[in-house]
Amino acid sequence: MAAFTPRVFSGIQPSGGLTLGNYLGAMKRFVTMQDEGKFETVYCMVDLHAITVWQDPAALTRATRELCAGFIAAGIDPSKSILFNQSQVAEHAQLAWIFNCVARMGWMQRMTQWKDKAGKNSQNASLGLFAYPALMAADILVYHATHVPVGEDQKQHLELTRDIAIKFNNDFGVDFFPETEPVIEGAATRVMSLRDGSKKMSKSDPSDMSRINLTDDADTIAQKIRKARTDPEALPSEVDGLDERPEARNLVNIYAALSETTPEAVLADHGGSQFSAFKPALADLAVDKLAPISTEMSRLMEDPAEIDRILAQGAAQAREIAAPVLKKTYEIVGMVGA
Ligand code: TRP
Repeated sequence: MAAFTPRVFSGIQPSGGLTLGNYLGAMKRFVTMQDEGKFETVYCMVDLHAITVWQDPAALTRATRELCAGFIAAGIDPSKSILFNQSQVAEHAQLAWIFNCVARMGWMQRMTQWKDKAGKNSQNASLGLFAYPALMAADILVYHATHVPVGEDQKQHLELTRDIAIKFNNDFGVDFFPETEPVIEGAATRVMSLRDGSKKMSKSDPSDMSRINLTDDADTIAQKIRKARTDPEALPSEVDGLDERPEARNLVNIYAALSETTPEAVLADHGGSQFSAFKPALADLAVDKLAPISTEMSRLMEDPAEIDRILAQGAAQAREIAAPVLKKTYEIVGMVGA
């Protein structure tokens, strides 16, 4: 294997509405990886992925800027990380086409996200939705990224990314694309709905009370936590006591993630407490950590030109890495003029 620069790539779709789940499950980890200094960090608003299902154009524009504001408010620093939107770096789509010709129909058909999203009416799904994982492989491999932090639900796409890299290297007899390592989030950062501890917190849940939005103000955050569904028991003092208590587990996990400690440590402090005491403590903590993010997001959103300037600058930096990788890929494939 050739030596590759340790480089992190990850992407979030600008399809509207950032939640506490995006923050704890993705952005907060992205910030840690940025600040650790062990990797170059590249973070992308994947607008080309978003349009694999219908997006209203004005809403897409707004969601992309809001996602950028969210990244920055959460602590991504454009002078430390490359922060950009996918469509501004044409190399993603260009490499994706090459990968469309490497990946096999059978591989794509096995993707559970395709099966879930296309549903029964797959004949009416977009061709882009089917090819989605090849574009995702291109996102990652056009930077020769070595590490990709994602949720459990993206694991299969990362395996496909490795399969594409291996097949490309084999087909052309090169050692060009790295075999990327997934960095899967732990269960403690999987944030569940505040109304149903067995469902993931989601921006598309019909009940706004089921989630904390990164744009919620302090009162709304506190109210949603006070009203979160729980059971009547006190908190246990050991994590084993959270088995079969998904709502209790979720609130303990959220507390642990926000205070950067473990569920064990939270229960060492709060074991034996009733929810009537634990919820106000969690609400205070959540307001303390999240209200500054929502304030900073609104401030940034007042100046879209500044956001666009940051994104354009990020795209230029991204292209510096992506362009030579694409050029070399074209050469390997045998394209004249590459
Ligand atoms: N498919 C990812 C998701 O829905 C988003 C994504 C697109 C991504 N390209 C990526 C994540 C590259 C990591 C790396 O969450």
